[in-house]
Amino acid sequence: MKKPSAAITAVHSVVPQKILSNQDLEKMVDTSDEWIVSRTGIKERRIVDNGQTLSDMGSEIVIQICKKRGISPLEVDMVIVGTVTADHRFPSTSNIICDKSGATNAWGFDLSAACSGFIYTLVTGQQFIETEKYKKIIVIGGDVMSSIVSYKDRNTCIIFGDGAGGVLLEPNLEGLGVIDSILKADGSGRDLLIQKYGGSAYPITKENVEHPDAYVYQEGRSVFKFAVTNMADVSAEIMERNNLNGDQVDWLIPHQANLRIIDATANRMGLSKEKVMINIEKYGNTTSGTIPLCIWEWESKLKKGDNIILAAFGGGFTWGSVYLKWAY
Ligand code: ACO
Repeated sequence: MKKPSAAITAVHSVVPQKILSNQDLEKMVDTSDEWIVSRTGIKERRIVDNGQTLSDMGSEIVIQICKKRGISPLEVDMVIVGTVTADHRFPSTSNIICDKSGATNAWGFDLSAACSGFIYTLVTGQQFIETEKYKKIIVIGGDVMSSIVSYKDRNTCIIFGDGAGGVLLEPNLEGLGVIDSILKADGSGRDLLIQKYGGSAYPITKENVEHPDAYVYQEGRSVFKFAVTNMADVSAEIMERNNLNGDQVDWLIPHQANLRIIDATANRMGLSKEKVMINIEKYGNTTSGTIPLCIWEWESKLKKGDNIILAAFGGGFTWGSVYLKWAY
């Protein structure tokens, strides 16, 4: 009997209402709208307000995905959450989302891969579907970066935003869904993009709580060089491995870290701009959230059978690409 592939059958995203514009940031740190737009492409980002949490966004995603697909949350087998800003160190945000959304028959876990969180999570969910033991898995990528960014640090606070998105994975017998993936990691890059304090190596104390290392630190220029090379290389590699040329790829869905990194990746793949999903100007870098936020915004343009490449690079370092065929 034919083995099923894991196909995306529904998508939903949630972003906070509150907008933090470049003009707002000009009042907080020594920066300018012109600098931010020319270096990153970002015009504004969303920031949580009134105690909104990642699990609030995630549970809404589960509820809306189930509604769209006409199923009960009770039918969901697993919820996997890619994030570096879980509600708590433990229990997992996945557990909390299942409780809040009524997906009480599901199990799941959180997965930490920084900006590659969604592609790592998607490929993990794919494996569980392909075992044929699980039929409905919701994979979520989302972050509340405003909870770990210092709004005194112009190197980082201009980049990040809050938001989350998720997809339902189900078995598919038409050869649609996730076809191939390449995931990579190199922990020797850990000090270049890190929230150093707050884990078990350097617990938060009253002495270090205000220290810059209690927040996200990024050595932007070095990370940029790694990101631009590796995201382009891995995207070219997955195309070659699957005998795809630029004409045969319908969409590139890149992690939204920097417009210049996205352009370099698209050029390397031989793709024209119309095939590249870009919404960085509205949401900034939502870490694990960027790719599902794009899928959600472009959902109505996608056609069954479309060849789609996802590509990401993030802290760790982690990076990779996924080749999938759209299933609806
Ligand atoms: N406003 C004004 N000036 C600034 C700002 C700011 N917000 N931030 C930095 N500068 C200054 C710097 O101090 C520097 O000044 P100097 O030349 O006098 O020293 C100058 O602008 C240039 O700084 P760079 O850091 O070299 O700027 P760059 O062009 O590299 O852009 C950026 C910075 C946007 C961070 C870029 O390096 C980048 O995108 N890096 C990669 C990000 C990435 O892909 N991260 C991985 C995913 S994130 C994750 O996994 C959580």
